[in-house]
Amino acid sequence: MKNEIWKENCHMYVDGFVVNGGKRLKGKARISGSKNAALPILAGTLIAKGEYILENVPELKDIRTMFKLLENLGLEIEKLDENTYKVLNKGLKSSEAKYDLVKTMRASFLVMGPILANLKNAKVSLPGGCAIGARPVNYHLKGFEALGCKIKIEHGYVEAEADELIGTGIYLDFPSVGATENIVMAAVKAKGKTVIENAAQEPEIEDLCNFLNSMGAKIEGIGTSRLEIEGVEELIPGRYRIIPDRIEAGTFIVASVLMDGDIEIEDVKMEHLESFKLKLEEMGVKFEENNGNLKIKAKLSELKPIKVKTMPYPGYPTDLQAQLMVLLSAINGVSEIKETIFENRFMHVSELNRMGANIEVDGNTAVINGKAEFSGAEVMASDLRAGASMVLAALLAQGETIINRIYHIDRGYEKLEDKLKKLGADIKREKLEVV
Ligand code: EPU
Repeated sequence: MKNEIWKENCHMYVDGFVVNGGKRLKGKARISGSKNAALPILAGTLIAKGEYILENVPELKDIRTMFKLLENLGLEIEKLDENTYKVLNKGLKSSEAKYDLVKTMRASFLVMGPILANLKNAKVSLPGGCAIGARPVNYHLKGFEALGCKIKIEHGYVEAEADELIGTGIYLDFPSVGATENIVMAAVKAKGKTVIENAAQEPEIEDLCNFLNSMGAKIEGIGTSRLEIEGVEELIPGRYRIIPDRIEAGTFIVASVLMDGDIEIEDVKMEHLESFKLKLEEMGVKFEENNGNLKIKAKLSELKPIKVKTMPYPGYPTDLQAQLMVLLSAINGVSEIKETIFENRFMHVSELNRMGANIEVDGNTAVINGKAEFSGAEVMASDLRAGASMVLAALLAQGETIINRIYHIDRGYEKLEDKLKKLGADIKREKLEVV
């Protein structure tokens, strides 16, 4: 029962990390496959019958949730080796994604577009809000409606159906990642051409489109804000390798800078981290790239403060906001971060302040007063990236940090403690009593 809350004599226990800070990091770290690319690609296996071989699928809790969802819908999944899976689609046995799985992971809603493409009707539980924001799905629904679906929301479920999905023009009022992915997947087999204007341009969407094109879809404008999807009759599954996780890479880059690291980070696509790289270069960090491997050169005491605003890609990613905040806390000077993507993504601030940071939040802006002396404390991860920021602060802190509720971290970082241990960090996983 690794990593699940369990009860013994009415005490609740859950996995946590115990970190003893201050250890210099040295060695190699390999970046895993991208969670946020793997999730929509796995959902995409619902579109067409056949055998899919997916490589570089990360071992994560969210991926296991997606597997369960696919199995509930009738797909068969087999692990071929460590990160390679066979997904067999012999036809869907249901068009319904139930609340119990959707509530544990919002990305479950990404099955709606593929089910619609396949069966022309789908019933998917509404995901509801989460810790970082309300996260509605109105843009997804607007897209399905434009493609000709009738939408009904009843008893907490969205039901959509159409006699035929028909290609059309869709303008997204905001370049939502999930809505772009869902609409693309619904449109690949629609009749005629769909154009998505103001589409999200994240590398994970590019990966999804490349995956769909590898099966015979006709998507143009990949990687731009205008996607043109010419519907096709049939898609033929095959083999596909998922891109490396740019957010995990960014997290290890911050760890390296913080810990005066001599780390080689393997399997990084720096072209997916351009804005992050430029901001760190503005601070004084230097990068050396060699064949997908990366070394970082920086002296913490010489780095300069910056102002950053999170934006849709190619802007600075919200998923690297919390990690950067730890770095900005550790250097000299006053920095500023504006969070524009999610309305409640500063929950790590109070925990970082408990560890010695001096961060003030006013609305969506955080002012980070630098030169914090981090000291170990007992803290709680409130979401995935907040949890990652606490691990980073703990690596730097004097003494012992206990991070509770790391199931959030397990959703998105493959074998984080093993990778950090290999680099020389003192981090271990323990069952901790829930307070
Ligand atoms: N939004 C709406 N209506 C919609 C869709 C989105 O108002 O119909 C709003 C959201 O509430 C949010 C903003 O638009 O404020 C951005 O949401 P988006 O749809 O772009 O994000 P997402 O698809 O829900 C993905 C990632 C997130 C990442 C965001 C932004 C996956 C599975 N999740 O979420 O990843 O933060 O894009 O880049 O791809 C994470 O990995 O920690 C994570 C949260």
